[in-house]
Amino acid sequence: MSSSLSLSSTQLEIEFSDLEAPTGGSAILLAADKLKFGAIAGRLDRKSGGNLRRAAKAAGFEGRQESTLEVLAPSGLGLERVIVVGAGNPGTGSSAGADDGWLLLGGQIYGAVEKAELDAATAVLELPKKTLDGRNVADIALGMLLRSYAFKKYKTDSGGDATGNKASGNKGKRRKAPKTRHLVVACKSPKAAERAFKASRAIAEGVFLARDLVNEPANNLGPVEFAERAEALGKLGVEVDILDETRLEAEKMGALLAVGQGSARPPRVAVMRWQGAPSPRAKPIAFVGKGVVFDTGGISLKPAKGMEDMKGDMGGAAAVIGTMHTLARRKAKVNAVGIVGLVENMPSAKATRPGDIVTSMSGQTIEVLNTDAEGRLVLADLLHYVQTYHKPKAVIDLATLTGAIMVALGQEYAGLFANDDRLAARIEAAGRATGERVWRMPLGAAYDKQLRSQFADMRNIGSRWGGAITAAQFLKRFVDDKTPWAHIDIAGTAMASKRNAINRSWGSGFGVRLLDRLVRDAYE
Ligand code: BES
Ligand code: MN
Ligand code: ZN
Repeated sequence: MSSSLSLSSTQLEIEFSDLEAPTGGSAILLAADKLKFGAIAGRLDRKSGGNLRRAAKAAGFEGRQESTLEVLAPSGLGLERVIVVGAGNPGTGSSAGADDGWLLLGGQIYGAVEKAELDAATAVLELPKKTLDGRNVADIALGMLLRSYAFKKYKTDSGGDATGNKASGNKGKRRKAPKTRHLVVACKSPKAAERAFKASRAIAEGVFLARDLVNEPANNLGPVEFAERAEALGKLGVEVDILDETRLEAEKMGALLAVGQGSARPPRVAVMRWQGAPSPRAKPIAFVGKGVVFDTGGISLKPAKGMEDMKGDMGGAAAVIGTMHTLARRKAKVNAVGIVGLVENMPSAKATRPGDIVTSMSGQTIEVLNTDAEGRLVLADLLHYVQTYHKPKAVIDLATLTGAIMVALGQEYAGLFANDDRLAARIEAAGRATGERVWRMPLGAAYDKQLRSQFADMRNIGSRWGGAITAAQFLKRFVDDKTPWAHIDIAGTAMASKRNAINRSWGSGFGVRLLDRLVRDAYE
């Protein structure tokens, strides 16, 4: 049984088979620390007259995590090549408490396959003194898939170098032909792995959708185009409602509209509902995403350097739509609503000015002192809307909200803010389970004070310090105290991502695996 994804950003096909030694082609074997082999790898080594161990010794390969050993045409095995992947102390995660070790191992395996430029290979998933169950194997396979993602949409064959650094003007030229890779995963219980992998595939699709959206340049992904991507979830059984400008005006979303008004491209809000719970009337969990398709800063214009990164300022919205995709694709037994605010923040004759006062949907007025603090304006109206119309049992918003969260946490953790300890603990647990890590940050009245305005109910920026926290305080003013709410600032984790074993893409798709896991562990 092979798996082909409905999304086009991977050329990897995976199938599962019984745990046997391959007799031809290329084989991937695992070794744990101190060059410990499982039964099959040990047998192959003996059959080759100790060839594998000798090669390991010569290369100084000891099975440590992140190391690999490639042996060409080892004697007596009939194999073209053997790649031994170091699994280290297998199953341990990327850092204390994290549980993403199998994913990372899968990524490492795929990385070795890619480096060797193999079209096909058999990976023998066997370790000494450890039985990998279906779930472990499915996680390894998911790691392979996640690693295999590449955004090649704009790479053509018409010149440029191998890394694609060429001038534009290649319109209409042929795109690089995708090469399909086949991986056979030989494991203890292929049936169970296959079953567990169904959900993994749904997760990979959601992550790929989010990565695709974050990677897409803003000239080709405006609010309307993004809304169309949301609408496409209709074919998975998601109910999608697109609110156009007239509707947004009728709903009095004055804060969100103020952000979009400088752009030639009209705003949209997309509302996606997945009704998978046994009772259709069960209160939904709500996901809210910042979808600024490009953030120039508006009249409070950003500096030129690095501004191109602001095509990714819709990473929160991308995570929400990706999560909705995953939930629908794996038919999650939950009611969920996803809402994304899609706007472009541009300076123009029609743009909001510093000092302008806008009225949010909630009725609260906001003095806009910096038009670059726009994400919170978008989220304010989305938060109010979703509570008004969907009465959610919990609300989680995701946003590339502040540079300040990157100053605080770097690119390793997303910032978590919450008005509810139980919800926060659940999100932290999902973070540990997936390796999409979050770090809880404080909220408090002393920070809230900074938002006092001379003229309106509040201003949209605080003072110099604690910028990620004052942004969260601002959002809190649009959340009912009795609704469990969490805000996740993903400015450091959604884009310009540090490449790792399971992600080689600029847009990481951060949030999809986290939210899917949260739903699975706490709401299904
Ligand atoms: N989209 C940015 C935040 C951001 C910065 C995301 C870098 C990813 C990378 C946000 O809209 C913004 O401009 N925030 C300002 C707020 C400030 C004006 C109070 C910031 O962080 O500088
Ligand atoms: Mn901004
Ligand atoms: Zn922004």
